Amino acid sequence: MAPTREYRNIALTGFMGAGKSTVGHLLAEILGFEFVDTDRLIEQRQNRRITDIFEKEGEPFFRRLESEVCRELEGVSDRVIATGGGLAVDPSNLESLRRHALVVCLWASPETLYERVRHQGHRPLLQDPDSLGRIRELLAARTHAYRQADILVGVDFRAPLDTARQIASGFRRARNPGTSDRPGRTPRPT
Ligand code: S3P
Repeated sequence: MAPTREYRNIALTGFMGAGKSTVGHLLAEILGFEFVDTDRLIEQRQNRRITDIFEKEGEPFFRRLESEVCRELEGVSDRVIATGGGLAVDPSNLESLRRHALVVCLWASPETLYERVRHQGHRPLLQDPDSLGRIRELLAARTHAYRQADILVGVDFRAPLDTARQIASGFRRARNPGTSDRPGRTPRPT
């Protein structure tokens, strides 16, 4: 039998620009949880920006920091954790998240992602004259990893607050299977 999962936290995965921080903040507010972002934790510890880390130390160094932060988060509770877009691509990071969190992937099309990130310059992996092409390529390479999430939420046509509410419902159901998350309603038998 598969081991029972523990849902102390929610981890948001998904590509750059999918809205993990925006949705994560809203979700944290709905659930009364604390919001944390793995990129910000890395920046605080290193006392420098992600772009600087990539530039001076290279991507493999950044990925090691990401994995360290991921392991440390195994001990926390009542957090909404927004992960950097590449974190869940490493299977051991995903396995680590699954030890304590419901893993939710925000899924958007390359076109939507491009529209959201095109005017932002802080993502080293998208510094490419053909950033839409780069997004398509990276997303194709990562699709398999993103699909490993417990819940996949399409965000192309959904407002962040709707997405956050939907995830909050999914989380309550995961924590209390068999109960309705709407107070006062009897769960319908399935
Ligand atoms: C990355 C995504 C970024 C950040 C870094 C690498 C990636 O985070 O971790 O630039 O590999 O997709 P966001 O997804 O929050 O932009």
